[in-house]
Amino acid sequence: MSRKALIAANWKMYKTPTEAEAFVKAFLPLVAGHTRDEIALFPSPVLLPAVIAACKGSQVAVGAQNIYFAEEGAYTGETSIGQLIAVGGTHTLIGHSERRQYFGETDEIVNKKLHTALKHKIVPVVCIGEVLAEREAGKTEDVLKTQVTGAFAGINGLSPEAISLIVIAYEPVWAIGTGKTATPEMAADAHRIVRAEVAKLLGADVANKMRILYGGSVKPDNATALLSQEEIDGALVGGASLKPDSFTAIVKY
Ligand code: PGA
Repeated sequence: MSRKALIAANWKMYKTPTEAEAFVKAFLPLVAGHTRDEIALFPSPVLLPAVIAACKGSQVAVGAQNIYFAEEGAYTGETSIGQLIAVGGTHTLIGHSERRQYFGETDEIVNKKLHTALKHKIVPVVCIGEVLAEREAGKTEDVLKTQVTGAFAGINGLSPEAISLIVIAYEPVWAIGTGKTATPEMAADAHRIVRAEVAKLLGADVANKMRILYGGSVKPDNATALLSQEEIDGALVGGASLKPDSFTAIVKY
């Protein structure tokens, strides 16, 4: 089963519009003609119009780091899916561990956001992963199963087209921004657990087609080992995605 890899940049709360435009201007020539993998950038909401305009006409997709599940309303500080679509965004991260850790996002909230994204045909990158204490306590498998089941509640009633949009990012929380990476074997093991759980919920065919990305301290020097694992269908990259040359090196692993 060959799944087209997605290499995604999570810029977190970095860059001004000017810096973001400069990144895209330097980056696009470096990846011109690169069609082996899909590429997506996830900037802060205030950067979206500038980044989308700069990427226009290229193969690089742009998405939000977060959306709210309600269509609109009195939700100060949130971004709606309609706002994302209106500026030309096509993807969104959902349930990144920093959202879970600092902003109280639960599996239930993740599930609501996933339903909202799929209703509007936005590609959702659903982030899951265990914290260090859970791994050390031997609970990784349980945590991943619970997160997948929680995120996917009610999804099996949706159309195959909607379900086919879903991407999962496995990001062990202890590897995010720490310079510690899961070994390719550890990551592949976790991916197998996740894929088996997706198969249980949505069927083997859907599970075989679903892309599962790895995230957590992906760098140019470990990208090849991680991404050449059969089970790993791309990467969600934080720190190393902030510079055009290092992100390009990962895209072209
Ligand atoms: P990192 O971040 O590459 O800096 O570890 C990954 C992420 O948070 O998605």
